[in-house]
Amino acid sequence: MKRLLSGIQPSGTITLGNYIGAIKNFVKLQNENEDVEFFVFIADQHAITVPQEKLKLRENIRSLAAIYVACGLDPKKVHLFIQSEVPAHAMLGYVMECTAYIGEMERMTQYKDKKVKQVDGVHCSLLTYPALMAADILLYDTDLVPVGEDQKQHLELTRNLAQRFNQKYGDTFVVPEAYIAKEGAKVMSLQDPTKKMSKSDPNPKGYIALLDEENVIRKKIMSAVTDSVGTISYDPANRPGISNLLTIYDVFSGEGIDNICKKYDGKGYAEFKADLADIVVNALKPIQERYNELIKSEELDTILDEGRDYASKIAFKKISKVYNKIGLGRKR
Ligand code: AQP
Repeated sequence: MKRLLSGIQPSGTITLGNYIGAIKNFVKLQNENEDVEFFVFIADQHAITVPQEKLKLRENIRSLAAIYVACGLDPKKVHLFIQSEVPAHAMLGYVMECTAYIGEMERMTQYKDKKVKQVDGVHCSLLTYPALMAADILLYDTDLVPVGEDQKQHLELTRNLAQRFNQKYGDTFVVPEAYIAKEGAKVMSLQDPTKKMSKSDPNPKGYIALLDEENVIRKKIMSAVTDSVGTISYDPANRPGISNLLTIYDVFSGEGIDNICKKYDGKGYAEFKADLADIVVNALKPIQERYNELIKSEELDTILDEGRDYASKIAFKKISKVYNKIGLGRKR
């Protein structure tokens, strides 16, 4: 049986990018694979690598849990849990920091991108968080990690750290593979389509949140940046704005990008965008309805308690093994 694991940071309100690049694929993987064990977590310790406001963080953690379930993750098939509730993540994260080199951390694109946005200083954890991410994955002997294109570099680092540790201390970790879905793997900002859509974008017009109200979604799509060409065609290198919108259209309609371009031949951006807004609004409606049922329910707490207990058992075994291999503490 193969193990899969993935997580999302509760660092803001979950976007269409997170849905298309991550959650939608989690649901597909859950439904298509019988013979797998799947862990999906809320990466709250990763979120505090940049400043977070306490109450907002709490709200975002719970909200993400409800979004996972509302989007179709089935707690009978997937173990859903909150990272900070399983202390072995931080424990192995530290061991991974002791396995990694500063040089390889400094090469991470996400670190370079995120550090320039930290006007009040860069926390050490922003540099070292790929070590914690490696720990998240390696704790569970994960075989496959479903991630967006943007996380490939971190996964490669995880593989290197696992191999380095195994070489020094003997076989301890499974070396994981990335699983990257082909379609719509990267969704770009609606305001700057050369940058990825991000939930921590200070300009909310750049992203569509899964919980955005209908009129907000329409406004954001109608004001999405395109270009002056005026035709509907797919050319991500030269026409990133319209190409991004086509990708979103295709993901939700399943019509295929070529067919969509043909359908809008001779038509303008306004008509295309209005139809896209309808498609997105309709796709998000059932998710939002289920979310509203879940968010205050005890059902959500039960799901998270069960996920935490199951994950903790596996993770504790692994961290004990790692400590013994290294020679930390007394032999258990
Ligand atoms: N724009 C995107 N397109 C496709 N996939 C995306 N993901 C994120 N943005 C896009 C995927 O969502 C998962 C969750 O990522 P994360 O929360 O751990 O961190 P992130 O990649 O840094 O996500 P954000 O939304 O950009 O968060 P902030 O703004 O806090 O940095 C990952 O699988 C990622 O690939």
